[in-house]
Amino acid sequence: MSYANSKIPSSAQVGVHEHLARLVGRHAGTPFRKPFADYNLHAVDQALAGWDGRAELILDAGCGVAHSTIALARAHPEAWVIGVDQSAERLERRKPYPASLMPDNLVLVRADLVDFWRLLSARGLRLARHFILYPNPWPKIGHLGRRWHAHPVFPTIPTLGGSLELRTNWRVYVEEFSLALGLLIGREPTWEDYDGAEGLTPFERKYRDSGQTLYRLFVELGDIALDGSRSAVHASGQCHRESHQ
Ligand SMILES: C[S@@+](CC[C@H](N)C(=O)[O-])C[C@H]1O[C@@H](n2cnc3c(N)ncnc32)[C@H](O)[C@@H]1O
Repeated sequence: MSYANSKIPSSAQVGVHEHLARLVGRHAGTPFRKPFADYNLHAVDQALAGWDGRAELILDAGCGVAHSTIALARAHPEAWVIGVDQSAERLERRKPYPASLMPDNLVLVRADLVDFWRLLSARGLRLARHFILYPNPWPKIGHLGRRWHAHPVFPTIPTLGGSLELRTNWRVYVEEFSLALGLLIGREPTWEDYDGAEGLTPFERKYRDSGQTLYRLFVELGDIALDGSRSAVHASGQCHRESHQ
């Protein structure tokens, strides 16, 4: 596929998946006990080794070739910026940035976010900003459980606090993400069309230059209690959804 000719995800699914709310409710009420892989335990140590313990933390989750991580580190020199991706090959590809031009308030680590998010939360860490930029959409109807908002790790995300920003080129993804997060935090985050002018990531630039509509969800998660339970859900483990104002 040539550049600027990319397609929006094609799917037989045109709206929110009928099983999403049930799945989110189940995940919110069930402890996710998958054991941590050693390489992810090591990755968290590596990610925090250069942190002074005081600087605001910014996480670029699924950073790919890390162009966005580098841009975020430049824009927030006072923060400690962590880029995480499961692909070592992508992380190493971070051309056109030679080591000498890399900001020194940044670290890139290879890890599985399924563990990495939970390990940050287990350490009681809070993020100032959290970016999930163009996650794999998994558009097949049967792949719902692979989308972040339908994954058992999802209730961990609001426990990390701060502001959370999702960008995607699939409208269904942002609709579902908003609904799922709303079920957890009791208010459905707003989202909007986004022109991609910032060109923060290679995927953003490619989709924008292909003339696609992009979507951006932004929410201040604020001070959500880290009480050892799954997240901001009801103590009963049931999802909680307030009526819209
Ligand atoms: C579509 S790419 C987007 C990359 C980048 N954010 C961008 O916009 O250019 C999705 C990225 O998420 C990463 N990813 C997917 N699942 C992951 C996981 N479980 N843990 C860490 N990274 C993951 C992939 O390796 C890939 O680099």
